[in-house]
Amino acid sequence: MSASNVTKDIFAVGILNPAMRIFDVVMKTEYGTSYNSYVVKGAEKTALVETCHLTFFDQYLENIRQVTDPAAIDYIILNHCEPDHSGVLGRLTELCPKAKILVSQAGSLYLKNITNNPSLPISVAKDGEQVDLGGKTLRFISAPFLHWPDSMFTWCPEEKVLFSCDVLGSHYCEPYTFDTNMAYPAKYEEAFKGYYDAIFGPFPSYVQSGLAKIRQLDVQTVCTSHGPVLTRGCRLEWAMEQYDQWSKPHKNERPLIPIFYCSAYGNTRKLAQMIQAGILEQIPDADCQAYDINDYDMGMLQGLLNRSDAFAVGSPTINADAVAPVWNLLSHVDAINNRKRPVLVFGSYGWSGEAVPNLVARLKGLKSAVFEEEFRTIFVPAEEELQKAKECGKRFAASLAK
Ligand code: FEO
Repeated sequence: MSASNVTKDIFAVGILNPAMRIFDVVMKTEYGTSYNSYVVKGAEKTALVETCHLTFFDQYLENIRQVTDPAAIDYIILNHCEPDHSGVLGRLTELCPKAKILVSQAGSLYLKNITNNPSLPISVAKDGEQVDLGGKTLRFISAPFLHWPDSMFTWCPEEKVLFSCDVLGSHYCEPYTFDTNMAYPAKYEEAFKGYYDAIFGPFPSYVQSGLAKIRQLDVQTVCTSHGPVLTRGCRLEWAMEQYDQWSKPHKNERPLIPIFYCSAYGNTRKLAQMIQAGILEQIPDADCQAYDINDYDMGMLQGLLNRSDAFAVGSPTINADAVAPVWNLLSHVDAINNRKRPVLVFGSYGWSGEAVPNLVARLKGLKSAVFEEEFRTIFVPAEEELQKAKECGKRFAASLAK
């Protein structure tokens, strides 16, 4: 897509990437994404807010050139330094000899290691500081952990435009700049939620702080870093409300204690069922279901795990390890909000039984509260072992009340 106007003096110069299907290795992007970037022109100076993924440098440069000579850029503002925002910086700065790079304090440290170029003219943009472009002001607002420590917003009061970085963004791509032209709104909403869960789910209190800062401004337009630009009267209020709802502290109505497992020959499944019976005997109103990981959508299971009060996870041992679907599930554990979350690990094995201790090691690495270390049986659990599994589930449930 070529450059387009956001307002008379603000231009969208970013890149659409409709073909992207996986972002950051792990995040599904069924509807592609965009790398949004904006040129802001004042009477005297010109700023570029955010840059772009390195892959698209040539097309991105062409977009910039449609609205300004890169050599005329005075400031390059990076609200966040992840390479989808900063990837082209090294090449771009060769064409912008007078541009000063403005980032947060944390961002200034990250950029050194991202670019490995000690001569870049990096300046720290402190919270509340601003630059005057001549009739247009850009003010910097600290927004830490939204979603990196370096994140900040940039606010242009004269245009009532907020450059919100990843906040309120989405991995969603249509050939339009604004939210007003969306052809598939239901798919956008799905992408918006998936993006929130993956990017901001671990940081609910910071989301609340960020929303409070946005509410203090008279925002008409939010220029996100991914997905459509949001406008008041169209999607902006809705998007803010969704973030508010999703980030509010919540308590499960019933104790949520899911059991996740894989089973090669039904033995680990039997343990899962007995552990479930033990948990329910101890806490009859618990929402405690056993899920064969291969039978359910991984996104659904990951959401369940991250919302749980406690969980159990079981795997057989194959090739001296837990099996891949179990590792896949654990790779999406929200590492921040799962600290101290109680977890019971179990599994049946034949020879050496590494699955359970390997899972225990991983969960301890996540600082989860691993219960009694492990529960393992060899091959087919006998009736006595099944009863032990049930007792283990009961003790696990009883420990949750402590
Ligand atoms: Fe859009 Fe956190 O990168």
